[in-house]
Formats: sequence, structure tokens, C-alpha cells
Amino acid sequence: MSMEQQVTRHYGSAGIAARVLAALREAKGPDAPVTIDTLAPLDQFHGRGPLATQELVALLKPRAGERVLDIGSGIGGPARWIAAKFDCHVTGVDLTREFCEAAEALNAATGLVDRVRILNGSALALPVPDATFDAAYSQNVIMNIADKPQFYREAFRALRPGGRLALSNVCAGPAGEPYFPVPWATIAETSFLATPAEMQADLAAAGFEIGDFRDTTAIVAEAQRRNRQRLEQGTLPLVAADIIHGERAREMQRNSMRSVEEGRTAIIEALVRKPE
Ligand SMILES: C[S@@+](CC[C@H](N)C(=O)[O-])C[C@H]1O[C@@H](n2cnc3c(N)ncnc32)[C@H](O)[C@@H]1O
Repeated sequence: MSMEQQVTRHYGSAGIAARVLAALREAKGPDAPVTIDTLAPLDQFHGRGPLATQELVALLKPRAGERVLDIGSGIGGPARWIAAKFDCHVTGVDLTREFCEAAEALNAATGLVDRVRILNGSALALPVPDATFDAAYSQNVIMNIADKPQFYREAFRALRPGGRLALSNVCAGPAGEPYFPVPWATIAETSFLATPAEMQADLAAAGFEIGDFRDTTAIVAEAQRRNRQRLEQGTLPLVAADIIHGERAREMQRNSMRSVEEGRTAIIEALVRKPE
């Protein structure tokens, strides 16, 4: 089985959108409105949910009318949130077919089909023409990618000159391997973490100018410590990982939280630019 097949098998399952909507009704009542804000804990599939997306958009600064690319768009929560809040057009590309189907169903449920387009494809061969996008972002995706130089070359190709790329990447920490399973991989062989220095070198080699490059591990670790206490007490609300991974999710979340707390992973937020 190829690595891409292993990734899609790790994430994919039938009926994800229906499970998201059922979890929303369970949490907020049978008549709960289906909006980007009510869905946000359930359709943003990364640590700290919409809070992390807010930090990423503070770097990216999307503008009204811009064409924005989401690389590894998952079930589309961040894409919908950004399209609606910033009045721009977002194209999401994701490898996992079931995630693309869920994203399209949730785009329809939130009335955002005109603003968010979803393409099933690989970040390593983006199904988009050259120099199409004003801005791009990728949130918690690169740890599934072995060929990181190709990931950055493709992002570079898709951006227009002067276009910007915001990244929230899980990187290798100084304290050894993460604990497995984590939400992105069941075993070490399907997890690919670069060090922050390697990330910076790969971005520069692809042609990007590095703007901001921040290590936010300490901030994330503190938030995850609080979340882990809630998880142990049974008071952590359902999040996207629970819907996607079912019974395995809580062990994965616990391992992910411990890994960042112990410096086994590092969280990097970056803003880079394709030269004019
Ligand atoms: C942890 S999820 C994050 C999803 C989304 N960015 C979010 O924050 O809600 C990682 C995503 O990366 C996607 N992915 C992994 N490898 C990929 C590849 N080679 N090309 C495109 N998407 C990929 C997976 O299908 C999955 O949706």
C-alpha cells in the first residue's frame, strides 16, 4: 500500500457529515442552527480548533475577494470559516475522499457552496493551475507528508508572485518521538516530522521569502495541559477528532497533548511569501 493510501485509510470513513450534524444537535439541541460558529469545534480538525485558525488568519490576513488555497482542507471547517469571515473564495484540496464528501455536504448545510470549492487530490501534485492564488495556508497537514520539499514547491507554484503562505506545522521536538497513536498517525512509520530548522531550509529552497517564523510550542503546551485535565475529568466537549476517529480519539488526543507538553513535538507558525 502506498503512503497516500495509508493516509486516506487512517482518516477516511463513511457518514462523517451526518455524524458532525448529529453531534451538533446533541450538543446544542435539535433545532441548533448550522453555522460556521456552531460547527467550529466539530469541523476544525486540529489542536485547539477555531482558536488556532484565528492565530493562522492573524498571520495570513485574508482580504475580501481574494482567492485562497487550503492545502489539506480536511472536512472544510477552516475553509468555510475563512471564506465567511473574510468574504473571500477558498479552494480546499484534500487527499481523503470521504473528507471531501463531508466538506461538500457541510458547505451545502452552511450555504457556502458558492464560496468554498473542494478538490480531491494530493498536496504533492495540486490539481490547480500555476499562479492562481493570492494566498494559501495549511494547518496540521505536513506531518503526513514525507516529501516536504515537493509540498512547498507545489504551494509556491500555485501562488501568484507576491502571494503569501501561512503554515501551522507540527514539527519534531527536541525530546524524541511522539507517543503513538496520535490523531495523524497510528504508528511511527506513517508520521513524518521535520525539525523547525529543516522546515525553514525547505521553504527557502522552494523559493519562499520567510516573513514570520514563530515557535508557539509553549503556548500550545499550556493550553493542551488544561485540555488534558478536562479530558481526564471527562469534561472535554466533543471535537472533530472524536467524530473522525471514534473510540480511538481520546487516546490519540491524550498522546498528542503529552507529546507537545514533553517537547516531543514543536508547533511552528510561519508566514512566507513568493517573491514578486
Ligand atoms: C489533521 S487533518 C487537518 C485537516 C484540516 N487542515 C483542518 O485543520 O481541519 C490532516 C489532513 O491532511 C490531509 N492530507 C494528508 N496528506 C495529504 C496529501 N498528500 N495531500 C492532501 N491532503 C493530505 C488529510 O487527508 C487530512 O485531511
